[in-house]
Amino acid sequence: KIAQLKAREILDSRGFPTVEVDVVLENGCMGRASVPSGKSTGRNEAYELRDEDEGRYRGKGVLKVVEHVQQDILHSIRGMSALDQAAIDDALIQLDGTDNKQRLGANAILGVSLATARAAAKYKNVHLVVHLAEFAGHHLDDLTLPIPMMNVINGGKHADSGISVQEFKLVPHGATKISQAIQMGAETYHALKDLLARQGHRISVGDEGGFAPKLATNEAALQILCEAILAAGYQPGQDISIGLDFAANDFYANGKYHLEGHDWSSDDMIEYCVQLINKFPIVSIEDGLAEDDWDAWPRLTNALKKVRVQCLGDDIFVTNPRIFAQGIQQGIADAILIKPNQIGTLTETVRTMKMAADAGYKTVMSHRSGETTDTFIADLAVATNARQMKSGAPARGERIEKYNQLIRLAEELPDLQLATGLYRFS
Ligand code: PGA
Ligand code: ZN
Repeated sequence: KIAQLKAREILDSRGFPTVEVDVVLENGCMGRASVPSGKSTGRNEAYELRDEDEGRYRGKGVLKVVEHVQQDILHSIRGMSALDQAAIDDALIQLDGTDNKQRLGANAILGVSLATARAAAKYKNVHLVVHLAEFAGHHLDDLTLPIPMMNVINGGKHADSGISVQEFKLVPHGATKISQAIQMGAETYHALKDLLARQGHRISVGDEGGFAPKLATNEAALQILCEAILAAGYQPGQDISIGLDFAANDFYANGKYHLEGHDWSSDDMIEYCVQLINKFPIVSIEDGLAEDDWDAWPRLTNALKKVRVQCLGDDIFVTNPRIFAQGIQQGIADAILIKPNQIGTLTETVRTMKMAADAGYKTVMSHRSGETTDTFIADLAVATNARQMKSGAPARGERIEKYNQLIRLAEELPDLQLATGLYRFS
C-alpha cells in the first residue's frame, strides 16, 4: 500500500526543471521516476503544467506540480495498493477531472504513475520489465528487443541547423543482437562526425545529441548519412537504413507545407516523400504530414504502403486511445509512436499499445527531446513488444541510458531476439 509520495524539481537535458517522484510503500519499498518534456509537441497532448512564474527558470518551474503530488494526489491515493496500477491511474484521472489533465498537470500524474510501477516491481521482487510485461498481459517468451532508431542529424525545432526534417535516424535492422545494433549506430555516428568535419561543417549537436550541420537541403543530409554508413563499413539499405521524422506541423501553415522555399500542397508533400524514398534507403517516415491535415493522411499511408515504407504517426495520434481509434478507422498510418507523457498514465499508454496490436499497427517507443537519465521507456518498450525504440543519438547521457538499458535487459532475458519487421528491404 502507498504510504508516502515525495516530489522534487530536478533538471532535464535542456537545463529546465522537470519533476521526479518517489512512491514509498508501507513496507518501505520505494519507486522513483522522472518525467521528460517535448518541444515539437502535438496540440492534443496531455497538459504539461508549468509555474509560469517568470522570475524562476523563465517561467518553466514545476513547484506547483511538486505541490500537487505531495498534497492532492497523496491524499487521494494513500492506502491504495501499488499492485493495482489501473485503479491508481484511474484515481489520478478522476482526481484531475479534466480531459487533458490540466488541473494537476500530466507531468504530476505521469511521475506518480511510473513511480508506482517501479515500487510495485520492488514489492514483488521482480525486475521492472517483468512487472510491466505482466501488467501489459504479455508472456516473456513472446517479447522482442526493439530495433534502435538513432537520431544522428537534428533539424527542425531541435537545432539551429536550418534543416527542415527534424530527425534523421539510423535504423540498424541488419543486426542480430541489440549490442551489435548499438555498435553499428555508434560507429556510423563517429564516421558521420569525421565526414562533417572534413567537409568544413560544424560538429556541434542538437537537443537529441545528433549533429546540427548547416546543410542546404534534406537530400544533402541524406547523402552524407549514406556516406557515413559506408565509411563505417556498412551497407545502406542492407545493414543500416534511415528513418525520418518530418514533424511536419512545424512547417505547415494555411494549408501549405513551407519547405526548402516551396509552398506545397499535401499531395506535393506525399510526392516529395516518395521521391526521397526512391533515392535513399528510407524505411520509416514519421509525421510526413501535419496533425491538422487529417484528410490527406490516408493518401500518405497508401503511398508509403506501395513502396513498403513504415508510415509512423506521432503528433497526429499523441498516444491518445480516443484519437488513435479514429485514426485506425480512417486508415491512417500503420505504426504509432508511443510517448507516455503525451497521454499521462501508464494504463492509458498500454491501452493505446493494445489497440495498436489488435489493429495490426507497429508500435515505436519514444523519448522526448527534453529528457532525464530515467530508463523506464526501455523496460516498457520490451515489456510491450514495441518493434522499435527511438532515444536520440548514441551519445549524451540522457540518450544513451535508454540504449544501455536495452543491453542490460538482453542480459536479464537472454532468450529475447531483436525485433524484425522493417519490411522494405527484407
Ligand atoms: P519532441 O520531439 O520530444 O520535441 O516533441 C520528438 C518527436 O517529434 O518525435
Ligand atoms: Zn515526432
